[in-house]
Order: sequence, then structure tokens, then C-alpha cells
Amino acid sequence: MVVCKSPTELEKMHQAGLIVWGALNKMREMVRPGLSTLDLDEFAEAYTAARHARPAFKGYRGYPGSVCTSINDEVVHGIPSGSRRLEEGDIVSMDFGVELEGFFADAALTVGVGKITPERERLLRVTRESLERAIEKVRLGNRLGDISAAVQQVVEENGFSVVREFVGHGIGTKMHEEPQVPNYGSPGVGPRLQQGLVLAIEPMVNSGGPAVRILDDDWTAVTLDGSDSAHFEHTVAVTDNGPWILTRPKEATGPCW
Ligand code: MF3
Ligand code: CO
Repeated sequence: MVVCKSPTELEKMHQAGLIVWGALNKMREMVRPGLSTLDLDEFAEAYTAARHARPAFKGYRGYPGSVCTSINDEVVHGIPSGSRRLEEGDIVSMDFGVELEGFFADAALTVGVGKITPERERLLRVTRESLERAIEKVRLGNRLGDISAAVQQVVEENGFSVVREFVGHGIGTKMHEEPQVPNYGSPGVGPRLQQGLVLAIEPMVNSGGPAVRILDDDWTAVTLDGSDSAHFEHTVAVTDNGPWILTRPKEATGPCW
């Protein structure tokens, strides 16, 4: 069952979303060689507690962290660790969600550590652009497949591949609600987008092949071929004014991250 949200509920999700956005923006500024992924996790935890919210991932199906930090060939769900330090030239994905007064928001971005190769820059830019093109499709009367197809098209026309094993999702009073939002599909297919539907759209893009495997920690997904991977995400509502990105300030313009 797909649950649509009232304007009041969307406003509450936006309050949660601003905490996610605020934390991720600070974290992107913290990123530098030598920082551990646990430093990022501890920052996010404190930032969230100070705003009377709860890190949504912590304890979810036993997940031990507050943030997912995934470096280079790690796709998603990397577990923060005090012994994992960022190195010059790495790319690091930071995925974070909070619950505030019963409402959830979820977002992610990938950033370079110091100077990164042009090919890594391109992977980050294309993955972000695939999210932006998907967000443009979040309009009344469009179909779910329009969003999925937009991601896939941007990714594949740039010679990268879309991960199949993980998908975006509806979000609201639970972190994961219906419908699933795959990053591949066909335009014109699937349910129509209704007022108040909220979707976490989250392209996961590999520079090589699409296949992934899970490490022995039972969480970290890595590319099977060792190629790089990037991840961008926003929580976006369908409104009669078009897409409303709940995980950034209303006045924000320009690139989505
Ligand atoms: N953005 C991811 C998702 O929507 C984050 C979940 S990580 C987990 O599934 F640790 F909570 F599982
Ligand atoms: Co998500």
C-alpha cells in the first residue's frame, strides 16, 4: 500500500530532512585525508542528538552505525570504523537518515578526498546528474518508471552501470515504504505519481560492471569487479508545484548536492 502525506506531514518530513542535509553538509566539509569514518559517524550522531532526532539507520536490522560510509569500490552500507582512515584521492559516500517525531528523511552524497582522478570526478558528476534528472520526473501524473528510466539513461549514456540489488523507496513514518524505486526501468510504466507521495531516490552507480557482492561483515556491498562506485540520494515529495526536495532548504537552488 502506498501512503500519501498531507501538507502538515510533508512539513514534518522536511524538518527531519533539514537535519539530514545539515549533518551531511558538515560531514562533506570534514572530509580530508586522515579522518576516520568513525569520526564522521560520531559527528552525525551528536549533530542529530542536539536536534532531538534519532539516527534512523542505527539498530536497523542490526546495523551498528549511524551513517553508512562507503569508500571507492564500496557501493553502500560501509560500516564506520576508527581504523578506516580516508586517503588522498579516495571517494567516500555518506548515507544518512533521521527520525524526527515519527517522520523519516534519508539522503546521501559522494565526495572526493583531496584531489581525485578525472574519471572519479566524472563518476560523481554523472551519478549526481542521474539523481537530478530523476528528480525532474517527480511530477503529478508521471509514472514511477519515468524516474527509474531517467536514472538509467544518464548512467548508461555515460558508460557507467546501475546497481540492481539495491533500490530507492517510499518513505514517511517508516524508513522504507512502498513503492520500491529501482534505478532502471522503462518510461511510461508503473503507477502514476500522486500528490503527497514521498520517494527516496538513490542511484548507486558503478564505473565498471553492475554486479556487487557483500563482504564478510554482512553489510558492506562492494563492486564485484573492484571498480569504483558512487551514491547520491534525496527524499523528494510529489506536489502540485512539482518536486519538493525535503532533504535540503526550500530556498536552495542549483545542483542538488
Ligand atoms: N539509504 C539506505 C536505505 O535506504 C540506508 C539504509 S542503511 C541501513 O536503505 F543500515 F539502515 F540499512
Ligand atoms: Co534510502
